[in-house]
This record gives sequence, C-alpha cells and structure tokens, in this order.
Amino acid sequence: MKTDARSSQRIQTEFGHRFVLCWQYNHPDMSILSGKHILIGVTGSIAAYKAADLASKLAQAGAKVDVLLTGAGEKFVSPLTFQSVTGRRAYTDADLWGNEAHVLHVSFGKSADLLVIAPCTADTMAKLAHGIADNLLTVTALAATCPILIAPAMDGGMFDHPATQENLKTLLSRGLLVAGPASGHLASGLSGTGRMIEPMEVLGHIRMALGKNGKLAGKKIIVTAGGTQEAIDPVRVITNHSSGKQGYALAQAALDAGAEVCLITTTTALTLPVGAHVVHVKSVQEMLDALLNKSADALVMAAAAADFRPKNIAKEKMKKRDGIPQIELEAAPDVLGTLSTVGGEKRRFKVTVGFAAESQSLLENAAEKLKSKGLDFIAANDISAKDAGFAVETNRLTLLFADGTKENLPLMSKTEAAEKIMEHIARLLE
Ligand code: CTP
Repeated sequence: MKTDARSSQRIQTEFGHRFVLCWQYNHPDMSILSGKHILIGVTGSIAAYKAADLASKLAQAGAKVDVLLTGAGEKFVSPLTFQSVTGRRAYTDADLWGNEAHVLHVSFGKSADLLVIAPCTADTMAKLAHGIADNLLTVTALAATCPILIAPAMDGGMFDHPATQENLKTLLSRGLLVAGPASGHLASGLSGTGRMIEPMEVLGHIRMALGKNGKLAGKKIIVTAGGTQEAIDPVRVITNHSSGKQGYALAQAALDAGAEVCLITTTTALTLPVGAHVVHVKSVQEMLDALLNKSADALVMAAAAADFRPKNIAKEKMKKRDGIPQIELEAAPDVLGTLSTVGGEKRRFKVTVGFAAESQSLLENAAEKLKSKGLDFIAANDISAKDAGFAVETNRLTLLFADGTKENLPLMSKTEAAEKIMEHIARLLE
C-alpha cells in the first residue's frame, strides 16, 4: 500500500454501519490539530464548498472531524462529500429526530475541542445571537461548552445590515470567535464585505483558538525571518540563501502555543501565519530599526542578517558599459549585538535566542556567539548538510544554553524544531 512521506497510519473508522479503511495523515506542520475533536457546522451558502476543503485539511492533519449540515447547507454540498474527506459520517437534521437524537447534540457539544461554523450565514448568526435552537447545528451550538468560531458568508448588504451588525456585536461580546468575512467578489455578482475567508485562513484561526491557553499564553514573542537584502543599486542586492522557513515555523509554533507574535520578515514568498503582526523589512538596518522600539518576552533572531553591506548605494542602475564595478563593503550593524547594548540595565527581551549558521567548527563557533551576543540559548545549525539549514523542510539543530547545558535535536521538520525551541522559551519564562 502506498504511503505518504509524512507519518501516516492505517486506521479503522466507523462509516455509518460499514467499516472502511482510510489513511490518517499527521501533517508534521500541524501537530496542534492532531487528535483534536473538531465540529464543523455547514450552513446554506455557496461557500459551503470551501467547508469540504477545510474538513479535508483538518482530517489530514489528524483531527477527528464531525460535520453537521443544516438543511440549507445540504442543498449546496451533500453529506457524502464530507464523509468522503473525513472518513466519518456527516450529520444532518434527520439525525435530530433519529435514534441518537437525545445524546447527539449534547455529547458533541461537550466532547468537541472547537465548533467551527464555516460558512455561517446571516440567518445562523441571528439564531446564535438569540439562542434559537431549531436544527441540529444550532441545538449543538447552544449545548456547546467548547469555544465557537464562525466564518460569516453572505452578500455584502446582508453583512452590513444593522440587524446582522447587532447580532455580530452580541456574539463578540459573548466571546464567540469571528474570522472574516473578507471583501471582494460576491456570489450575487456584487463586490463588498461578505465573502467567507479561505480554508487555509480559517485553519489559522482554528489553530489560534486551540492554542489560546497554551504554554505561551499572555506572552509576546518577536521572531525575525529570512535573509536580509543589502542594496547595491536600485536593481541589485547582496543577499543569502535563507528562505525564512525556520522563522515562519517559529512564528507559527509561538502562535500555536498561545503567544502574541510579531514576525519581522524579509521574505514575501511564504504564506503568513494567521494572527501574527507582520513587519516587512529588507535590509539589516531596517530590521534593527523595527526592533529598536520594541520589547517582548522573547526575541528569536532566526533571520540571516547581513554582516557586510555596500558602503555606498548607487542612485542609478550601474551600467555594463561602465565596466565591472568595484563595490566597497562596510560592516553592517549586528542586530543582537546592538540590542544587547541599548536600553541600559533593563533588558527589553527576557529571553533572547540566536541561530548560528556554520559550515565548520559548529559547536565552538556557536558557543562563542552564545557568549558574545549575550543570548539565553543558541540553535547551532550545520549548513553544510543537505537535509538541514537553508531552504529545505528539515533541520538538525544543537541547542546550547547559557548555563552550559546542551540538547541535540535529531533531524526533524522545521515545525518540530520550532516547537522544541518554543518549549524551551516557555520553560525559561516560567
Ligand atoms: N545576527 C545579527 N546581526 C547581524 C548578523 C547576525 O543579529 N548583522 C544574528 C543572527 O540573526 C543570528 C546570530 O546573530 O541569530 C548569529 O548569526 P551568524 O550569521 O551565524 O553569525 P555572525 O554573528 O554573523 O558571525 P559570522 O557570520 O562571522 O559567523
């Protein structure tokens, strides 16, 4: 049988009265979802098709996904679609009057880690705001003890209507989580605010909801990511091979652990983690400037910041006809070095973490940087290995701590490495 590169396991799931075999994929990049019981409520909007993608992504990430369709939801997408992607039967209003009726909504409402209603129509929003429980989904929502997240979807005029806005206010005041809606093209042909946000974005909100009370709840973490770009002229830059993947994984791991996250990044090629406050920079100077007025519980300098930069940036594009240019370099500011000396006695970051990208004498060089940069710990990274370091999905790190201890992390995904680093940050902040 074909296996996926990701860890996968053969499991048996109940599918109505039959048993079928299906594959459960544990995406290493979404471990926060693994084993979670997530209810998806699907209501009557054309965006219901996006719910099938969402259910599929959650199931692939190892979540136990139960789908509850309203009558109108069923008109857009059939229960079979959801059964096919989750490997579990999907529930409809027929089940409200069936054998399991008396326990179904209560047990769902109590056992689930999260109820996500996506898409959530204006009608269902109104029902939730007024405690109306006239179908399986709204009965379950009323019985639910878990957090509820809604992704509204409706025509622009309906979302802007004072009735919907009042309902939205009521729901927010009760602590219900709301993701979207987005602005853009609507099914009516009009443009406006009312589009359901994309499944990947809903997924980001689900992660935030599940991580809310995590190990870093209430903590602020700043992560830098990517290789800096030092301009030579208006066209050319000096940069490096850093992709920003490890930095983005760190930002996501911090979000998953419940932290408030600021991501200072040079890259625009990666999907931004939902919920992070993002600052885009290019040069090492811009990165330093972005950090100078900030404080946080922890700073993780995963960016590959330049050590050298052109002394003078040519105002106009250098022309070939003028011959090969002689570019004079000067030292770029050392971000960690500067931050450890500004701000006087009071450290603006309780924990500071650096990365040491080395092609030789890995541990000796990393230990020297740990000390000279005043870090709490450093992740030493052998960039000569093909399966670790720049641009690949995996990393093999050795963590060196200021107290002299060290931890070898075997080859693992950058996500897993990020989670380990966040565990240590949480421990040091305790
Ligand atoms: N760093 C920094 N400012 C720079 C360069 C690097 O703050 N101008 C940070 C990196 O983000 C990393 C740590 O310092 O967390 C070590 O970076 P690295 O490039 O490995 O070391 P350098 O100090 O630049 O020394 P060298 O390049 O000579 O190894």
